Amino acid sequence: MKPWQLIDLPRVQDPRGNLTFVEGGRHLPFDIARVYYLYDIPGGANRGGHAHKELQQVLIAVSGSFDVHLDDGHNTEVITLRRSYTGLLLRSMVWRVLDNFSSGAVCLTLASMPYIEDDYYRDYNDFIKAVGSKS
Ligand code: TYD
Repeated sequence: MKPWQLIDLPRVQDPRGNLTFVEGGRHLPFDIARVYYLYDIPGGANRGGHAHKELQQVLIAVSGSFDVHLDDGHNTEVITLRRSYTGLLLRSMVWRVLDNFSSGAVCLTLASMPYIEDDYYRDYNDFIKAVGSKS
């Protein structure tokens, strides 16, 4: 089973503007410990370039669009996020790179843990070695 998955979030459509909400433990398989967002991303920039040992998170393109390159050491996939009501659930041990941000794109992230630098693999070769030793 791939350690990533698209999640349809609830949508309340309204002529005054649409609304989406997320409850940890209900729409996501974890309680939300942290929220952060990427914004003011210059053209051509990329973010991510790491994997997490334990952290799970959900990425949402609340504005604009961007591509997420995913790699679990066995399978790769590129997913474009462009809808404010679609979340991309990333379980642990997924190498991810975000790029191709549209102008004004905002990537909202809901995370299962606080920021812990020790939870990161920042070197792709270290990540691949760790995947190999676990499978
Ligand atoms: P990083 O996770 O490397 O960003 P990205 O992978 O999206 O390119 O984080 C960049 C910097 O921000 C790094 O110095 C750590 C800091 N940071 C925090 O202090 N708290 C957080 O919740 C996050 C996500 C990052």
